[in-house]
Amino acid sequence: MKIAITGKGGVGKTTLAGTLARLMARDGMDVLAIDADPDMNLASALGIENPPQPLTEYKELIDERAGGPDGMFKLNPKVDDVVERFGVVGPDGVRMLVMGTVERGGSGCMCPASSFLRALLRHVVFKESSVVIMDMEAGIEHLGRGTTRGIDLMVVVVEPGARSLETAERIKRLGTELGIGTFAAVVNKVREEDIGVVESRLDELGIPVLGVLPYDISLVKADLEGRAPVEVGGLVVEAIKGIKGKLR
Ligand SMILES: Nc1ncnc2c1ncn2[C@@H]1O[C@H](COP(=O)(O)OP(=O)(O)O)[C@@H](O)[C@H]1O
Ligand SMILES: [Mg+2]
Repeated sequence: MKIAITGKGGVGKTTLAGTLARLMARDGMDVLAIDADPDMNLASALGIENPPQPLTEYKELIDERAGGPDGMFKLNPKVDDVVERFGVVGPDGVRMLVMGTVERGGSGCMCPASSFLRALLRHVVFKESSVVIMDMEAGIEHLGRGTTRGIDLMVVVVEPGARSLETAERIKRLGTELGIGTFAAVVNKVREEDIGVVESRLDELGIPVLGVLPYDISLVKADLEGRAPVEVGGLVVEAIKGIKGKLR
């Protein structure tokens, strides 16, 4: 199963991605977690103290693999050894990779680094046998069709609020254009009395609700103690267990 997690900044993507990865690994699944958000904080949600260096920092490797003469780039650079060489294994056996950031101009940079990362995502989505969980940014424009067709589920995390729902709408539209077949929403930081409003808005957008996460003080505690949410436990971790159960 290949799951991409997206949504507006601060809605809880990384919390969900990291916790889900750990819980699936505890169930005995082979899990690869990919930090594809320029924010790069998935490692802490996984409980990994020494995250791998972002791939975009391996400039020589990228130039060697994806570079061409005169500033050209190769569309299909070799990437089949990248997970093995640059991934780290964290608690519960979750493997993780950090993509890093590519300077993107206007309509998207066509450069070796961008080509390398696209090829890598294509590779993990189609060639990895493990569960792959991708912690993404809100913009999914840079995902090539070749990758999106391999994503089984695009999870949009939303919190009550117009901007977050606008982001969900944009992701749904763009993702559909890019060939993603299945969308689901996780509603986060929501009060009982607001769930109905958010759910009906998501219903209008045609995005089914996969789960609802309450506001949970345990996450503040985890953050302050520098521990992964799954290690602290609490309402959100319990709710994510419920979400995991629906993914089988
Ligand atoms: N349900 C929740 N209750 C309380 N705090 C939360 C909840 N979900 C996320 N947070 C906190 O909100 C902040 C942003 O969450 P994060 O998962 O990093 O969002 P994103 O990856 O979408 O930017 C973090 O400090 C996280 O601990
Ligand atoms: Mg994040």
